[in-house]
Amino acid sequence: MKGLFLHLPVLLRESIEHLALKRGDAVLDATLGGGGHAIEVLKKIGPEGKLIAVDRDPEALDRTKQHLKDYSGQIIYINENFRNIEKILGVSEVEYIDGAIFDLGVSSYQIDNATRGFSFLKDGPLDMRFDTGQTLTAREMVNKFGKDMLADIIRKYGEERYAGRVAGEIVASRKRKRIETTGELVEVIEKAVGRKYRNQKLHPACRTFQALRIYVNDELSSAEEAVGKTISYLHQRGRICVISFHSLEDRIIKNMFREKAREKKLALVTKKPITPGREEVLANPRARSAKLRVAEKL
Ligand SMILES: C[S@@+](CC[C@H](N)C(=O)[O-])C[C@H]1O[C@@H](n2cnc3c(N)ncnc32)[C@H](O)[C@@H]1O
Repeated sequence: MKGLFLHLPVLLRESIEHLALKRGDAVLDATLGGGGHAIEVLKKIGPEGKLIAVDRDPEALDRTKQHLKDYSGQIIYINENFRNIEKILGVSEVEYIDGAIFDLGVSSYQIDNATRGFSFLKDGPLDMRFDTGQTLTAREMVNKFGKDMLADIIRKYGEERYAGRVAGEIVASRKRKRIETTGELVEVIEKAVGRKYRNQKLHPACRTFQALRIYVNDELSSAEEAVGKTISYLHQRGRICVISFHSLEDRIIKNMFREKAREKKLALVTKKPITPGREEVLANPRARSAKLRVAEKL
């Protein structure tokens, strides 16, 4: 299995069913990752169909290209931030699409690869970039940003109630020595709030790591911009599926879909989000917090 992009796709059956694809459709997979959703889309659209496969992470595209090599004639690979949808469709020479899927956030491969610096359980450089060509890293944030700014980010994007303590400890610690690795940051966070988390299931670093990752990759505004723009490129009756993994992201999608439904641009296919069943969560704990929302273009 070495070299494969190991990622169990979340809410796979549910998202593919709800996309309601037909042979020959043109579909955007805005978050290719390991291609788990893409391969099922390809089966539905058949050899006459076209898949626009986007990922901001060049490594994800390289690995998954190998995995999907039997379908290479049907796939246009694009290494781009999905918020640049006009550019993506321009390069693909596709004017309108019949369906789109966004499976937001981070893949298991990225989390499990210590060198990418996403995990508080594996020691590695404090990085957290999806796009490895971008300059801002988590290392730069924790060593350069002021205490108030760090506290605001950790509170807003991590919903960490002890954000002030964490930020204070980061600033005190970096005065002694720069924080270079995920392991060093975990030690700092544990020093700040380890006791507060003693009787909780959640790891003390979980919320802070989420916050830094969201900020480094500008995840919330990228998703909001991309989903909003993608709706305007859907054919009538084309569907959009969005899977999100935390409440901040889900709220953005929920509100946007509702607003577009009020404007009669979309019909809500899911009034309430679809969540994974017990079996899926047991097989793939990462699916635990997933929510799928689906809408159809009017
Ligand atoms: C949860 S994974 C997708 C997994 C995929 N559906 C599968 O089943 O294998 C999310 C992917 O989206 C990519 N990504 C995150 N933000 C992005 C953005 N703004 N533009 C393009 N890709 C992005 C990440 O690099 C990651 O590979």
